[in-house]
Amino acid sequence: MSESLRIEDRGSHVLATLDRPEKRNAIDQDLVDALHELCARLEVERRTLVLTGSGGTFAAGADIAQLRERRAADARAGINTRCFQRIRALPMPVIAVLDGYALGGGAELAYAADIRIGTPSLKIGNPETGLGIIAGAGATWRLPELVGSALASEMLLTGRILTAGEALAAGLVTAVLEPVAALDRAAELAARIASLDPAATQATKRTLLAPPEAHPAIELDEQAVLFESEEKERRMTEFLERRSRRADTSEREGER
Ligand code: COA
Repeated sequence: MSESLRIEDRGSHVLATLDRPEKRNAIDQDLVDALHELCARLEVERRTLVLTGSGGTFAAGADIAQLRERRAADARAGINTRCFQRIRALPMPVIAVLDGYALGGGAELAYAADIRIGTPSLKIGNPETGLGIIAGAGATWRLPELVGSALASEMLLTGRILTAGEALAAGLVTAVLEPVAALDRAAELAARIASLDPAATQATKRTLLAPPEAHPAIELDEQAVLFESEEKERRMTEFLERRSRRADTSEREGER
């Protein structure tokens, strides 16, 4: 495992920290390889992933020193695109905790998460056109879905970087909390997710990620499987029995 990706087992989730603070966690090939290795593990283990960065930065982009050396064939290989797509497609939710800079490829990695939490120092956006390239690892199609096409166009065409407050107002992050509290919130969300039915969570994620033309057939297929599951039977029975026990108790108390 790479030294620039720190991985910790936190019970309800796996915490992965981009850990190249001297380079503002710039995403180089080594980090991409480490993220693929982590995905391979999470595709089997099916755990919630919390992604964050060390040193007060999420990630200041793809590694510009490596980007400068890349040529047409490298662009077509989609080095970052494929990595972020694999993260997006992980079976269980991905929560990104965004402290400080989330720029360029760092922002695109954040856009690939299911849930984003910011800190007050967050600065998120895509300055790629200033470097003579496009934001080619997901921003052009994910950002409009996340913030609407008007703001996404402004961000991508002008390189506008959003503050934490702006990202919150745009719905790009769902909360802004101090760094420790942001990680705690991510852990709370992961614990909540762990208490739900993993099959239903994974089915929900698949339907959320499905293209428009797949609906509503995909929901019906996913629900058909879940309607036959033992876990659905167990959870619904538990709910109904709890209610009827509560009704019995209040009836008895009413008689007294
Ligand atoms: N790729 C490669 N190296 C990067 C990097 C990136 N995306 N972002 C930062 N670094 C490196 C710097 O080159 C510097 O390395 P050095 O100490 O060997 O010179 C180190 O990280 C610290 O960066 P520095 O600019 O001194 O830190 P800062 O706190 O003053 O500024 C940023 C932080 C994020 C504002 C600034 O580093 C920056 O603008 N980075 C590039 C952002 C960008 O354009 N990203 C899009 C890429 S697709």
